[in-house]
Amino acid sequence: MAAKHTVVLVPGDGIGPEITGAVLRILAAAGVEIEWERHVAGTESLATLGTPLPDTLLAAIEKHGVALKGPLTTPVASGFPSVNVALRKHFDLYANLRPVKTLPGMATHHGEIDLVIVRENTEDLYSGLEHVVVPGVVESLKIITEKACTRIAEFGFQFAEQNGRQTVSAVHKANIMKLSDGLFLDCCRKVATRHGSVAYNEVIVDNAAMQLVMRPRQFDTLLLENLYGDILSDLCAGLVGGLGLCPGANLGPRCAIFEAVHGSAPDIAGLGVANPTALLLAALLMLRQLEERAAADRIEAALVQVMQEPARRTRDLGGEATTSQFAEAIAAVIEAG
Ligand code: NAI
Repeated sequence: MAAKHTVVLVPGDGIGPEITGAVLRILAAAGVEIEWERHVAGTESLATLGTPLPDTLLAAIEKHGVALKGPLTTPVASGFPSVNVALRKHFDLYANLRPVKTLPGMATHHGEIDLVIVRENTEDLYSGLEHVVVPGVVESLKIITEKACTRIAEFGFQFAEQNGRQTVSAVHKANIMKLSDGLFLDCCRKVATRHGSVAYNEVIVDNAAMQLVMRPRQFDTLLLENLYGDILSDLCAGLVGGLGLCPGANLGPRCAIFEAVHGSAPDIAGLGVANPTALLLAALLMLRQLEERAAADRIEAALVQVMQEPARRTRDLGGEATTSQFAEAIAAVIEAG
């Protein structure tokens, strides 16, 4: 019998294959009927297919509308442009949704955190438009459009309304970038007037960074341009236990790509110690979008149960479990239930 869902799977680079293996094991334990269509991208497909972003992958995502993606390495200061950014632009995945929530039982400096980052995903300094003006002088273009700002603000407010959230905070640097970030703020303010049930405020990005470190619980839903969203996502991950715990969804009109917030972690790749939780939580976002809520709830409960015992956590959380031992522990709880 055909599986209920077909999902494109990109294991990715570095720790990608290890954490995707763990997530697939856990989803299989929960009996979710997914047929995984595997594709390569990035350094692996450059080596085997001559391109970091193969047409076959694009066609598969277009066809099935949903993908689970491991991290992809982007060469620093040279080499091919980011495949992650290219995918977001190609499919117009304009909204990057990153819930940052303390897992039950995880001790953090600030108690229970429940933040949501809504990051614009298609423009800003990620335009890829850079050039040498004269030797020693480089220009990098920050593109901000009314259309993209209005669209992400609308997404952020609608998300807040539909998920019982109280406040949207627009994060900006419009004191310095008066035109670009000023346009972002203009759009946020206009959209805010259409969503009176959600409170709206504004915070300058450097102050936001300090406030997040000192008093993160004052924030609810953060609405940001692309670069600020990228940087503050990692900061927020640090508030709840690190990058191993934070999922993300790249959402657009025709498809969605679910992934962890973190990258390929070359420093621990191949050691079998990576924490698969961030990708697992991304897979849970995906399952809920696929209307597989019961399976998502079962997996989440098993994750929380295993996390209760510090020794069973992975190394990044002070535990002793390898990636696969952690996955097996969660799978065992699911299978026993
Ligand atoms: P990174 O997120 O890969 O790693 C930062 C630190 O967090 C490292 O010490 C790493 O060991 C740790 N870490 C990350 N994920 C972990 C996990 N699941 N379990 C335990 N520890 C974990 O960031 P980095 O090193 O700056 O980037 C490495 C590569 O990843 C770069 O090529 C970058 O472009 C790419 N990248 C890809 C992303 C994506 O595919 N969406 C997102 C971010 C970075």
